[in-house]
Parts: sequence; C-alpha cells; structure tokens
Amino acid sequence: MDNQTAIAAAIAAATGLAADELKGYLETPPNPAMGDYAFPCFKLAKALRKAPPAIAAELMDKLVLPAGLSRVETAGGYLNFFADKASYASGVLSRVLSQGERYGASEEGKGGHVCIDYSSINIAKPFHIGHLSSTAIGNSLYRIYGFLGYAPVGINHLGDWGTQFGKMIVAFKKWGDEAMLEKGSVRDLVKLYVRFHDEAEAHPEMNDEARAWFKKIEDGDAEAIALFERFKAITMREVMRVYDMLDVHFDSYAGESFYNDKMQPIVEELREKNLLKLDQGAQIVDLSAYDMPPCIILRSDGATLYATRDLATAQYRHDTYAFAKSLYVVAYQQNLHFKQVFKVLELMGRDWVKDMEHVNFGMVSITDGTLSTRHGNVVYLEDVLNAAIDKTRAVMAEKSPDLTGEALDEAAKAVGVGAVVWGVLYSARIKDISFSYEKALNFDGETGPYVQYTHARCCSVLAKAVQAGLAQSSQDKPYDVASLDYEALSDEAATNVLKALDAFPAAICAAAEKNEPYLVARALMDVCTAYNKFYYDDRIMDAEPNAREARLALTDAARTVIKTGLYLLGLKAPERM
Ligand code: ARG
Repeated sequence: MDNQTAIAAAIAAATGLAADELKGYLETPPNPAMGDYAFPCFKLAKALRKAPPAIAAELMDKLVLPAGLSRVETAGGYLNFFADKASYASGVLSRVLSQGERYGASEEGKGGHVCIDYSSINIAKPFHIGHLSSTAIGNSLYRIYGFLGYAPVGINHLGDWGTQFGKMIVAFKKWGDEAMLEKGSVRDLVKLYVRFHDEAEAHPEMNDEARAWFKKIEDGDAEAIALFERFKAITMREVMRVYDMLDVHFDSYAGESFYNDKMQPIVEELREKNLLKLDQGAQIVDLSAYDMPPCIILRSDGATLYATRDLATAQYRHDTYAFAKSLYVVAYQQNLHFKQVFKVLELMGRDWVKDMEHVNFGMVSITDGTLSTRHGNVVYLEDVLNAAIDKTRAVMAEKSPDLTGEALDEAAKAVGVGAVVWGVLYSARIKDISFSYEKALNFDGETGPYVQYTHARCCSVLAKAVQAGLAQSSQDKPYDVASLDYEALSDEAATNVLKALDAFPAAICAAAEKNEPYLVARALMDVCTAYNKFYYDDRIMDAEPNAREARLALTDAARTVIKTGLYLLGLKAPERM
C-alpha cells in the first residue's frame, strides 16, 4: 500500500469517514522539513463540528501510525506525516522493479474499445504542421489507453470526399500529365489545386466543370474514379512515410467516402423524428434553442455535408465497436462542428453520445528557421521532422564524437523526431504553441532530448556497473533486490527520485481521464529532473558497496519508468546518444 492510502485508512479508522475522500485531501507540505504529507484538518471541521486544531489534537491521540511512516506532528490545523525513508524506498523500488516495464499498467479498461479519431489527413492536401498535434496526441492516447487495459481503435478519418476532387480533376486535365503522377508528389497536386483557384476567378465556368467531374466520381465513372484513386495513392504514400518516421499506426482508414452509403438511414430517421427543417432549400436541424447555428444535413442540391458524414460515422463506430469511449482529436477550430453533431445525436435519442468527446487542441506555429508559418505559407510536417533530425545530427556529432555512422543516424532520428513530438505534448492541449527548434532541441531544457538523454545516462551507468564486473552479463542486474540497503536511499536527492517514480502511475490514469498526455510528460519530466539531481549529488560507482548497489537499483528503476513514459508519449528511448 502506498503511504497516502495508508494515511487515509488510518484517519478513516479514527474518524469513521470515507478513506477515499480523505485521501483526496492530502497535500504535500511546502517544505520537506515540515513532513512528507500534510492532512488539512479544516476539511473535517464541518463533519466533526470542531475547530481544526482540536481535530488535529484528537487525531494525534487516536491515530495508529501506519507502517511506512516514522512520525506525525500537529502544526496548527494540520497533521504532518513523516515517511520512514527506508521503508518508503523499499516499497517504491520493489513495486517498480517487480513490475518493470508494466509499472503503471493496469486492466482497468477491461478490454473496452476506445475509438480514437486522430491525424485524419486530407487527400491531395498537405500533411502540414497543423496535423502534428492531432497525430501526436492521438498516438499517445492510443498507447495510454492500451497500457490501461483498453482496446484502442486508431482511426484515420481520411478527408477523401468533396467537390474539391472535381476541381483537382479539372486542373489535372488542363495542366497535369502522367509524368507528374509518376513522380507522385503531393506538392504538385497542391500546386494544381492552387492554380485552379487562381484561374477560376477569371473563368468561373471552371467551377461548373469541376462540379460535373465530382458528379462523375459520385456516379462511379471509370475515368474519374481512376484519377481520384491515383491522387489518393500519391497522398497515402507520402503520409505513410511520415507515420513511419513518427511510429504512428492506425487500425482503420475508413474516411469520409466510406460513409457515402451510410448516411441515408440517418437522414430518414431525422425526417421521421421531425428534426429536419427546410431552410432556403437546405435541410437543417434547428439548434437555436441551444444557442447554436443550424446543423446543415443536406444542401439545396441534395448533397451531404461534413456533419452528415460525421453523424453516420458516429453511428457506425457505435455499431461496429460498441465503444466505451469515442474520441475525436481535432483542433478547437472545429468546436462548433462537434457540439452540433453531438447535439443532433442527442436529439435523435442516442444516449451513448455521453461517451463521445471532442479532444480539442490549440494551434502550432513555427517561430524560427526557413520553414516559418509567419509568412502564411504551408509548412509540411515531413520538412519539419527532417530539419529537426538534421539539426540534431549536427548537435550530436559534436557532443558525442564516438557516435558515428548508422548509430548516429538512428539516434539523430529518434531524438529529432522526439523533440518535435515532445514540443506539442508538453503543455495542456488547449494552449497554442509556438514551436522553435532551438527550444525543442535544447538538451538541457524541459525537452524530449533531455528526457531521452536521461534515459541514455541511466543505461550508461548500468552498463558501467556491468563492465566493472558487478553483474555476470548485461542480461543480469548489478544489484540484488532481495538484499538492498534501503537506508542508503534515505537522503533527499534519492527520496525525490522515489517520489517522482511513486507518482507516475497516477499520472497515467489522470492522463486517460482527462485525455491529456501532457500529464504523463510532466510526470516524466519530474522523474528526469529528480534523477539528474541525484546523479550529481550522490556518487554511484565510487560509493561504498551497499550504497552503490542501492543507487544502481534506483537508477534501473528510473531507467524503466523513463522508457515507459517515452513509449506512452510516442518517443523512442535510445540507449546511447
Ligand atoms: N480531415 C479533417 C481536417 O483535416 C479532420 C477530420 C476529423 N475527424 C472527423 N471525424 N471529423 O480538418
């Protein structure tokens, strides 16, 4: 049992109040000299009808101090508890080392499906930096839910439907050729699309042509479909390259076009339930009672819309996966869209809409370098990742001259990509982020490289211990858990590492509950700062044998937790860098 739970149970036994609630009241004293846990007695003033200092005094009398704590003191209306450092160390270390890379994992999800709609790129459009947060947050949530025993379903809701594909075909027929398709660059497709818009201003009849071509796609015309499929293939090849770099995967690529034949029943039902209203020729659901503009279901020409497809999508995911949760990791620009879609589902009587959530996030802009968003141009995610890798390689070649060739390339890739991903995962989702390479690649800042570097440091400490003959082989541990001297871990620096390790599992649960991967990132950063402080304060290899062994065990525990944390955020954990 961890100390917080034990303290709560002891107070519960003394007062008859609920332990769970009491645990929630526990605080960390501002200064460790005052204790490791503080219980604010004023929280009980109402229930016990007494003044806080009186409650504190009474509890001091009645309380049976749990094992794991060395003493308790009153301070005004507070009870301050002091952990028994050695038994705390033994508790935390044995939990971490026995569970290893499963430390913090659970079966609380009981295999329930969590649909996660993320990245969701658009065909023949740039995979740009705007999709970075969706991709990184969604991928991290996928891993976090999996770690907690859920069965996540990763869905890339491809933007592969709409009149823009008619425009693409017109533009391609006017200015494109086979060689361009062979070359297969999305940038060329985007140029065609931009050119269409420029020229259609002077030649509005091009828009009619585009509509006619889109109609052909809808009607299954062979030529139209063949071109559309090639645009799709070109885009997919390029995005797969980026997903590969990011180590991101999906279970389904069912995009907008997948729902073409699944909207009719929804429209019918809306009509039957009298939810449809005719408005200037369009069919809408009036949401004025909820202070929202109407949700347009069918345009006046009968065409369906993004929202119509999302209604069918929600229904399909419910029917197919019977989800425990269904998440949409999409920028806050679409707040209104999801509020409308969720409200329409609610009006249709779908009680499972309560399990759906728009996991929204702020904007990312780049503040330095040639790939600036300040000039309003599109920044391709692939360029950002490659630039980060190149810059990392340069830094590493200088910092670690013995790292060369393939090993250098691999480490630079892991750290460069990790720096970018960390950059968008290290703050609350809703915050806008201005990304700078200089900040993200600072090995001493609160960055991905810093965390990865700490992992590599732990690995190298352990490797040195093996080299020094403290273990038979690199498979064996240079310490024996059964006979560790935990007193050697009772100093402040070691205790702080233990506290950070102890707090890690709860951070994972909180991250899932709030759909906020940054809570894992923060907890991970706490482990790293505490470990690095410990590394500088406490000698490891040249300490006397008892202390050396205990500190190596602590190093191994930190290494394990950092590796798990990096995995949960979608970063690699290089052993050397
Ligand atoms: N493709 C859309 C975009 O890039 C995001 C789709 C999000 N998912 C959804 N089910 N609407 O803006």
